Amino acid sequence: MEVLIRDTPLEGAEVAAKVVRKKILEKPHPTLGLATGGTPLKMYQELIRMHNEEGLSFQHCTTFNLDEYVGLPPDNGQSYHYYMKNNLFDHIDLPSDKYHLPDGNADNLRQSCKDYERKIKDVGGIDLQVLGIGANGHIGFNEPTGSFASRTWIKILSEQTIRDNSKYFGPTEKVPYHVVTMGIATIMEAKHCLLIANGAKKADAVRKMIEGAVSASCPASILQMHPRVTVVLDEEAAYLLSAKDHYKWVEANKLDWQKY
Ligand code: GLP
Repeated sequence: MEVLIRDTPLEGAEVAAKVVRKKILEKPHPTLGLATGGTPLKMYQELIRMHNEEGLSFQHCTTFNLDEYVGLPPDNGQSYHYYMKNNLFDHIDLPSDKYHLPDGNADNLRQSCKDYERKIKDVGGIDLQVLGIGANGHIGFNEPTGSFASRTWIKILSEQTIRDNSKYFGPTEKVPYHVVTMGIATIMEAKHCLLIANGAKKADAVRKMIEGAVSASCPASILQMHPRVTVVLDEEAAYLLSAKDHYKWVEANKLDWQKY
């Protein structure tokens, strides 16, 4: 894994946005996998800035989001459809028929999960998958002990994730228990994964992901088996890593073409 440690979440967001920009400029028709949650927000703001001020275009991109709640209409303020439009899609030049999210309202959820996998395959797979990480080590909504071979499917959230995500919901709103998420196997097929984590709350999951045993108890640890992963951390999320100095030394000695 390539581990990039920055003093602040904002500096992390800036380097993460550069990773995305590099991928967009590298390929004529890049496919991006996108994530929601609090973590990627600053990176999306930086991408919007690059679009407005530097002419970064998303016109030839296709995107697939990781996950969505079941039963929230797309115009519900807590749905990931709403989040993506509000925080990214409405501010860039990505054509509206080029972005995809799992449909948490499909009449036939199981069929729509299969269709989602097929759509990803039809465009040749995901070039860069953006990821956050749950405090329990989940990626997408793949909770601990779920299968590493899983594909896009309907999942039930753990009580910890429901508690963690309740901060985004109003006091009278209920966090849905059911979600549709890309599976671990779907994520592992992305050609490059970019995982961002900030804050001390994520430090234990980050340590297990990078330096712990590969185990379904920490779903993100499977990324150790992926050929190309970039992890962007702030100092707080990195504070439990035992090889922190090594990761910094490696980054300081990168060749020019390896830098972002
Ligand atoms: C959520 C999302 C994940 C996200 C993670 C962390 O439940 N399904 O994709 O990465 O949990 O969220 P946050 O960035 O808000 O801490």
